[in-house]
Amino acid sequence: MVSIRSLFAVLPLLGAALAQSSTSYTDSGITFQGLQEPTHGVNYGFVFPPTTATGATAQEFIGEIVAPVNIKWAGLALGGQMANNLLIVAWPNNNQIVFSPRYATDYIQPVVYAGPTITTLQSSVNSTYWKWIFRCQNCTTWQGGSLNTNGGPVFAWVVAFSQVFTPSSASSNFNEHDDFGFWGEITQNAHSNNYNSYLTGGSSSTTTTTSTSKSTTTTTTTSTSKSTTTTTTTSTTKTTTSTTSTGPTVSATPYDYIVVGGGPGGLVAADRLTQNGKNVLLLERGGPSTAETGGNDAPPWAPSSLTRFDIPGEFQAMFSGNTYWFCRDVASFAGCLIGGGTSINGGLYWYPTDDDFSTARGWPSSWTNHRPYTSLVTARLPSTDAPGTDGKRYLEQTFPVIQQMLTPLGYSNITINSNPDQKDHVYGYSAYNFQGGKRAGPVATYFRSAKTRSNFKYAYWTYVSAVQRNGAQITGVYTNNTALGPNGFIPLTAKGRVILSAGSFGTPRILFQSGIGPSDMISLVEQNPTAAALLPPSSQYINLPAGENVQDNPSINLMFTHPSIDAYDNWAPIFANPRPADAAQYIQSQSGVFAGSSPKVNFWTALGGSDGKTRYMQGTVRPGFDSVTTTQTYNASQVFSITLYLSTGITSRGRIGLTSSQLGVGILTGPWFTDPVDKAVLTQGAQTIINAVGNVPGLKLITPDLTSTNLNDYINNYPPSNLNSNHWVGACQIGAVVDANVKVLNTNNLFIIDASIIPAMPTGNPQGALMSAAEQAIAKVLALAGGP
Ligand SMILES: Cc1cc2nc3c(=O)[nH]c(=O)nc-3n(C[C@H](O)[C@H](O)[C@H](O)COP(=O)(O)OP(=O)(O)OC[C@H]3O[C@@H](n4cnc5c(N)ncnc54)[C@H](O)[C@@H]3O)c2cc1C
Ligand SMILES: *[C@@H]1O[C@H](CO)[C@@H](O)[C@H](O)[C@H]1NC(C)=O
Ligand SMILES: *[C@@H]1O[C@H](CO)[C@@H](O)[C@H](O)[C@H]1NC(C)=O
Ligand SMILES: *[C@@H]1O[C@H](CO)[C@@H](O)[C@H](O)[C@H]1NC(C)=O
Ligand SMILES: *[C@@H]1O[C@H](CO)[C@@H](O)[C@H](O)[C@H]1NC(C)=O
Ligand SMILES: *[C@@H]1O[C@H](CO)[C@@H](O)[C@H](O)[C@H]1NC(C)=O
Repeated sequence: MVSIRSLFAVLPLLGAALAQSSTSYTDSGITFQGLQEPTHGVNYGFVFPPTTATGATAQEFIGEIVAPVNIKWAGLALGGQMANNLLIVAWPNNNQIVFSPRYATDYIQPVVYAGPTITTLQSSVNSTYWKWIFRCQNCTTWQGGSLNTNGGPVFAWVVAFSQVFTPSSASSNFNEHDDFGFWGEITQNAHSNNYNSYLTGGSSSTTTTTSTSKSTTTTTTTSTSKSTTTTTTTSTTKTTTSTTSTGPTVSATPYDYIVVGGGPGGLVAADRLTQNGKNVLLLERGGPSTAETGGNDAPPWAPSSLTRFDIPGEFQAMFSGNTYWFCRDVASFAGCLIGGGTSINGGLYWYPTDDDFSTARGWPSSWTNHRPYTSLVTARLPSTDAPGTDGKRYLEQTFPVIQQMLTPLGYSNITINSNPDQKDHVYGYSAYNFQGGKRAGPVATYFRSAKTRSNFKYAYWTYVSAVQRNGAQITGVYTNNTALGPNGFIPLTAKGRVILSAGSFGTPRILFQSGIGPSDMISLVEQNPTAAALLPPSSQYINLPAGENVQDNPSINLMFTHPSIDAYDNWAPIFANPRPADAAQYIQSQSGVFAGSSPKVNFWTALGGSDGKTRYMQGTVRPGFDSVTTTQTYNASQVFSITLYLSTGITSRGRIGLTSSQLGVGILTGPWFTDPVDKAVLTQGAQTIINAVGNVPGLKLITPDLTSTNLNDYINNYPPSNLNSNHWVGACQIGAVVDANVKVLNTNNLFIIDASIIPAMPTGNPQGALMSAAEQAIAKVLALAGGP
């Protein structure tokens, strides 16, 4: 898992005199022997029983960690190094301290260690500090080591600036610490005759409250270690009670809002809810993506802080190798990690057009004023068409070729997001949601700010299967995370709400498993005994067209060669063995080829159809190709592709849903070209592009080659799965499945905020329009009476 190399790296330097050793100081009426660490302002203190103590008493101590709130977790290594020593980690969560003993046999993620009994004596969290005073019993010896309680052993501390993955869980994994250090703990000066009185809360204790009150005490037990006991109390309670538990009994915390899914819809929603003071739990079935979210999956040539999700130029490598980031139970590409699709997609990012939110596109009239919401998005996440830190563009050989091709057709060169409504006969540099040469999107903006708020909690690796529903009222969610609630059930507060943001495939599946949807889908759920057990009685089923009437851009690729093009080795070596100069430039300054993804130029045009309707066609141009089928000889080093998508105005629709009682989801009816006019219009648009080949000396169309295959046959025989653009909308569309406040019809408190509510294909790749829709949706949810 996560490697912890830095602590390891300096160990050979140890052994000589340590720069720091412990001193005596008093806090909360207890005189500690410890380190008042100046760099981060953290205190680590210890008190040992009198030296005359024997038996179990001789094997315990009292410790404290007092840390500023920017320290998201802190840890102690009692043997002075990480491997094969007793470790203690702690962090604040709401107003409590969550902690556990840990152990690692190597420089890897330490796991919860059974043996020690740690009890909180005092804890507090205020706006500037968190403080934890604890008793550690059976803590002076451990597997393979022990503590010299009457000398000056070396201890180590670690601190981290990013939260653990599941702050509510004592067994949570976490990313590598950000800093660490060592000191000599003078244990021979740490023994106190007041030890027993300290155990009852320190000398300044005025009231002693037993921990029976539900509102001030929470007991959490890790599910991996039966004998580890952890008791946490709030600052107002001094407790002498320790709770021993023999199994995973967890009392669940209820939330005002539970947001299901950490894609763009869910992250925008969670950020705005927490900004408005709501208590929010975000549940994500996958794990971390970029480094700031705890990810460390970097290409072999990059440091772990530059993961494959951070580096825009790794986009083409998302489709090979062990693609664990795609949802395994979705038969189409869908991102199953924090950020959802935005953590693995090409990053193309278009500010929506007014038309994208028009009543003609199916929006209620209350939604057409999108601009204030779009501005909220673009203020936080402005697009860029020069993504590197040096402001230069790289691998742009396609631009002049496209310019020469399209100018005679009457196209003009624009900065696309400066003119969002101009989508007819225009082209320009591709615009991305990257920042500083790294993938940004909703993760580096909305998620980043949500995480700074104490009323925000999130958990990775938590799969929501269904909501618990009593008629119209949702009472909580069923998950597979037993650290969050008994059997994984997490309740809502009395007026609480659930927001489904699990994406176009994930959200309908949760509805079906909650007894909401077409009857054929619910009957597949009924055939699955585990899922059927969570369904409400059939009298409470809600029949809604979830999964029906979906749209996606049908898209086809045209492949060309031109002597000026650098096909970039068709992106094949970018993960394992990139061009050294490009890799070095990117590592040094996040600029160069790797600061951008593969698309380099985009264009749009309006096309008329035989049915009198206008449809838009988008072109995306990139060096390289998927697969070339041609009778011509060609130079593979000079190939580039134009992907032509039919976008706003398409009339074809399809259906997605459960493919069997195993509850996998997939495409039941492909949404591409179900209306033959869509196919005719895209063919017509492709023909105008092909006709323009002669505008550019040296430009050659290689696929379709127009000798073995003409354009009509090429499109007619296009494999349906290759028509898929992964731009799904409409599965739970506004007006059909949710109302104008994005509330699921016939429910009181179930909402949807993700791409599935969008009623029709937006003009460009959808994430920009989706984030604007999410801003507007969450504003409507917050304004709707009856909530928390
Ligand atoms: C390969 C690919 C390339 C793309 N390229 C672009 C592009 O360049 N530009 C663009 O604009 N769009 C692109 N898209 C589309 C864009 O990424 C999606 O439109 C967008 O991510 C949809 O957002 P969402 O919030 O609806 O759902 P998602 O992004 O799918 O997020 C849903 C989240 O919910 C989680 N989840 C799902 N089910 C559950 C559950 N049961 N319990 C808990 N969590 C759950 C998932 O893990 C995921 O994190 C691309 C998509 C793909 C797949
Ligand atoms: C003390 O901890 C060790 C592990 O370090 C464990 O093996 C032992 O059982 C524990 N003793 C008691 C009394 O809990
Ligand atoms: C916050 O807690 C710290 C540590 O206990 C304490 O020193 C400080 O005075 C507290 N601040 C406030 C405002 O209570
Ligand atoms: C148009 O094309 C040129 C490249 O020749 C580019 O540098 C320029 O910035 C483009 N955009 C506009 C809005 O003119
Ligand atoms: C919950 O399910 C997700 C997605 O299937 C999985 O990755 C995760 O490991 C599961 N979590 C637990 C605690 O079983
Ligand atoms: C193929 O293209 C590359 C890059 O332009 C060029 O270096 C090479 O000489 C070409 N090969 C042939 C056989 O023309």
